[in-house]
Amino acid sequence: MNTAATATTAADTYKTKVTAAFNGAAATYDRLGVEFFTPMGRRLVELAAPRPAERLLDVGCGLGATLLPAATRIGPAGHALGIDIAEAMIEEAGREAERQSITNVELRVMDGEHPDLPARSFDLVLGSYSVIFLPDARAALARYAGLLRDGGRIAFTSPVFTRDTFPFLPPLFSKWIPLSLLSHLPESWHPEQLHRQLHSWLEDPADLEAALTKAGFTDVRIVDEPVRMTAASGEDWVNWSHTQGMRLLWQHLPQDEAAALRERLIGELDALRDGDGPVEIEVPVRYVTAKAAR
Ligand SMILES: C[S@@+](CC[C@H](N)C(=O)[O-])C[C@H]1O[C@@H](n2cnc3c(N)ncnc32)[C@H](O)[C@@H]1O
Repeated sequence: MNTAATATTAADTYKTKVTAAFNGAAATYDRLGVEFFTPMGRRLVELAAPRPAERLLDVGCGLGATLLPAATRIGPAGHALGIDIAEAMIEEAGREAERQSITNVELRVMDGEHPDLPARSFDLVLGSYSVIFLPDARAALARYAGLLRDGGRIAFTSPVFTRDTFPFLPPLFSKWIPLSLLSHLPESWHPEQLHRQLHSWLEDPADLEAALTKAGFTDVRIVDEPVRMTAASGEDWVNWSHTQGMRLLWQHLPQDEAAALRERLIGELDALRDGDGPVEIEVPVRYVTAKAAR
């Protein structure tokens, strides 16, 4: 009983941190001139291929990089529900939907790990760079299978995690960000956690496929493809990095370490530029699609 109580508390504390980080990021999230989440969301929607009049759920929808293009594809007869644990993200997503005149979207603040939604009520569950934030994503995948109608699909993205690279950033960054800073990131992303059963699915495609099969999915497809991330300058990239998952790192770094890391990253990223050209980095992204096994 003690173990369960401790695990619940740890997950709750972690979710409170994640929620605060994304509430703080919402006003500028994905809006500082760095192209990444939007092209990744578009590609995920291409692979998920939502059809007219379908009902879809986007878990951890953020500002709608996946939700809004998917909502457009299902058309006015379809229904797109976006849920996010961060209220400010949901508010910004609502403004973005309005700005784009997309009206078949519903937005709710909800923990995507335990969605309080009717069984068998969706044709498609989506999640871009969000499933990785769930403390027990394997269990959540089984809940998503239960939310799908017969023949329903799931499609999500994740970073390509490897043991010797800094989590969720392209391999290049491992030379610049000391791995000791990992202690500031969610435990499930630490390289040593990838060895353990609970989170090894993040690294190992075979394990990911097994997790999906166990959760009630079939026809699992795992495709790693690069997204070309572009930023006008190293400084733009670093400013943008405060608006996504890396915010969890910046927030917890002592001021002097944060200042030193900022200078280092700006210098290294600017060195990649061709004159005044943008910083361009190929970021490996894992696209996962599967069907409910019934
Ligand atoms: C990196 S962002 C991705 C957002 C969006 N899918 C995109 O591609 O731009 C991760 C999102 O997951 C949300 N999130 C994290 N944990 C969550 C949870 N337990 N339930 C629902 N949303 C969660 C965050 O608030 C954030 O909006």
